[in-house]
Amino acid sequence: MDDLVEYDGTTGTFALHTPTTTYAVRLTDAGPRQVYWGPRLTLAQVVSVPDRPRTGDEVLGEELPGEGGERFGPPSVRLEFADGTRAVEWRADGHAIDGGRLTVTLVDLHYPVRLDLHYQVYDDGDVVERWAALTHLGETAPIVLERLDSAAWTLPPRADYRLSYVVGEWAAEFQLKRTRAAYGETTWTSRRGTSRHQGNPWLSVDPGDTTEEYGEVWSTALAWSGTWKLTSRRTLADDLVVTAGAGQDGLRWRLAPGETWTTPVAAGLYTRDGFGGLSRRWHDYARRHVLSHPDEVRPVLYNSWEGTWFDVTEANQREIAAVAADLGVELFVMDDGWFGRRLSDSAGLGDWWPNPDRFPAGLTPLVDEVHRLGMRFGIWVEPEMVNPDSDLYRSHPEWTLHLPNRFRTEVRTQLVLNFARPDVAEWAHGWLDRLLTEHRIDFLKWDMNRAFTEAGWADSADPHRLWYDHTRTVYAILDRLRADHPHVRIESCASGGGRADFGVLRRTDQVWTSDNTDPVDRIAIQDGYSQVYPATTMGAWASENPNPLTRREIPLRFRFHVAMAGALGVSGNLRDWSKEDRVEAAAMIVLYKRIRHVVQHGVLHRLTPPTDQIVVVQYVNGDETVIFAWRPQARHGHPTRPVRLRGLDPEASYREGSTVYSGAVLAGYGLDLDLPPGDYASVVCHLTRVGR
Ligand code: GLA
Repeated sequence: MDDLVEYDGTTGTFALHTPTTTYAVRLTDAGPRQVYWGPRLTLAQVVSVPDRPRTGDEVLGEELPGEGGERFGPPSVRLEFADGTRAVEWRADGHAIDGGRLTVTLVDLHYPVRLDLHYQVYDDGDVVERWAALTHLGETAPIVLERLDSAAWTLPPRADYRLSYVVGEWAAEFQLKRTRAAYGETTWTSRRGTSRHQGNPWLSVDPGDTTEEYGEVWSTALAWSGTWKLTSRRTLADDLVVTAGAGQDGLRWRLAPGETWTTPVAAGLYTRDGFGGLSRRWHDYARRHVLSHPDEVRPVLYNSWEGTWFDVTEANQREIAAVAADLGVELFVMDDGWFGRRLSDSAGLGDWWPNPDRFPAGLTPLVDEVHRLGMRFGIWVEPEMVNPDSDLYRSHPEWTLHLPNRFRTEVRTQLVLNFARPDVAEWAHGWLDRLLTEHRIDFLKWDMNRAFTEAGWADSADPHRLWYDHTRTVYAILDRLRADHPHVRIESCASGGGRADFGVLRRTDQVWTSDNTDPVDRIAIQDGYSQVYPATTMGAWASENPNPLTRREIPLRFRFHVAMAGALGVSGNLRDWSKEDRVEAAAMIVLYKRIRHVVQHGVLHRLTPPTDQIVVVQYVNGDETVIFAWRPQARHGHPTRPVRLRGLDPEASYREGSTVYSGAVLAGYGLDLDLPPGDYASVVCHLTRVGR
C-alpha cells in the first residue's frame, strides 16, 4: 500500500492520496495553500503544479484564511487579541504525518496562538476530512473568537461553476437546487440552533456541465448539528472558494489561556462520476466512517404519531401493537403523549414520567406486551424542550434560553432548555438513563421541535458558547447513552428532517426525514436527502389515507412503494384499516424484508430526475438489484419508455420470477416497466443474477 500522505521538503508540498484522488497543500509565506484537488497524481506530479497565479490584489487559496495582510474574503479564522489586533501572521511550526493523518501547525509571529490544520484520508474512499484546532498559548488575557471554520476549499480553476445544495422548510425538506455560482459572496446558514430544515450543511460544485452519471464534482459536508455557515465566493477571475464551519455570524466567545477550540469535521470529496457517483461515495463514506451499525438491517417500524397523535394510552397502544405485529412490524414506537400532562402540545414537556391516567402501572406492561408480540419497543423523547406549563419549568424557569427584559418567544408552546448548563445536562442524562435502565427500551426517537430564540444565558460570562455547547451536550448525552445501553438504536428527528447531518449520524442510526408522509411530495424529499445521506438512514413511513398533511388520497401500494426506498415504517390508526388494506400492507412488508438488504446496503442509482413523469431509482447489492418506478400522475400521450439499468454485469443474466434478462440488454436497451394504468402507478422489480 502506498503512503496515504507524502511530503516534499524542498517545496513544502503535501500530497494526500485517496484511491482515486489527490489533495495537495503547499506551505508558503502566507500560510498553507491548496495547490491541487482532482484525479490522483504522484507526489512528483503534484510538486510540478505551479503556485496559483495571483489575480487581483489579494492572497487566495489559503487553507484557512484569517484577517490581515491582503486577505479580503470571508475570514475562516476570526479572532481578537486583548489589545484589539485582529490580523494574524502565521509561521509554519512543523507538521506530523501518521498514516492517513496530517497535521500542519502554524503559530503567530507575535501573539500566543497556535493553529493546527488537521487532515485525514482513508484507503477505502475518496473523502478528505478536515478540521482545525486553535490553542491559546498565553497565560493571561483571553482571546476573543468570532469564527473558526473547519475548512476553506479552493476549487481548481474552471471556466464556470455551478452549485448544488438543498433548501426547505418544515414538511418540505431537502429540496435540491442547482444554480450557477454567483459572482461575489453567497451564504448558506442556520441561525436556528440546529442544522434545520431551511438548508443542510453541504454544498457541491461542478463546472456547469456535470450530469447524474458523468462529470466532475467537488463537495463538502459539515459534520455538525448546531448552527452553521457555508459560503461560496467567486471572483472576476473565476476563483471559487467555499468555506464550511460551525456557528453563525455575530457570535463572540472567549478562549481562555491554555484552552484549545476544536472544530467539527468538514468532509470534502471529489469525483469524475457525476452527481450519482458523488452520492454513492458519500453513502459509502457514511457506512465506513460515520454510522455505528452500518451492517444491520433497519427493522420495519410502526410509529404511533399519525395513528393516535397525542392520545396514546396503554389500551390503544396494545390494540394497535397487536395489528402491527400481524402486519410484520418489528419495532413498535410510541410517539408523543405518554408522559406528564402531555394531552396536547401545550403542556408536559419536561415532566418525563408516564402519565398515570394513561399508563396506570407505568410503561412496563406495554413494553412487555410489545416484546411478547415479538417486536422491539421504542419511545419518543424531546429532551431539549420544556413547556411553560410543566413542573420542570415551574421549578427551573432559569433553565431555558432567555434574555433579560425580553419575551420568551414560545414556538409550539415550548421553550428551549439551555443544554450548555451543566445542571441541565446532568438532569437530562439522568432521566434518559433511568428511562432506559428501568425499561426494556430498544429505540429512542430523539426529537427537537423548535428553533432557538432569545438565546441568552443570563448567569454566564461567556453566553455565546451555548450555541456550540448545546450541540456538544446533545452529542455527549447520546454518546453516553449508547455506551451504557449498547442495544439501543436512535432516530434523529427535529420536526422531521431538521437535524440530519454527519455529526448526528455518527451517534444515531436513522433520521426521521420529514413530517410530510405524502408519497408524492416525498419523492423530491427523498431525492434531496439521497444526494449525501444513505437510504439505510432515511426513515420513511407508509401512512394514512387521505394523507394527514396534504389530504391527498393515494392507494396503499403507492404509499408503500415510495417508503420502501428507505428504512420502511408504517404509521396510522391501524385498528381502522380495512381487512384488505391489512392484507396488502402485510404483503408489502414481506416484500420489503426480501429486498431491504439491497435498498439499505446497496448502491443507489437515480435513473431519472425526481421531476420526470415516471421516477425510477435503482439499488444494487452484489448479485441483486431492486428497481422502484413511481408515476404519480399519468398523462395521455406519454408512453412508458424502457429504463436503462446501471451497475449490472453485462455478461450475466438476471431473473425475476420466471423471466430472465440479459445484463447487457438491461443496460443497453433497458427494462420495460410493467406499470399499471392510471395515476399513482408504481412497481418494484427485484432481479437476481443467475450466472453468466
Ligand atoms: C414532531 C415530529 C413528529 C412527532 C411530533 C410529536 O413534529 O417530527 O414525528 O414526533 O413531533 O409531537
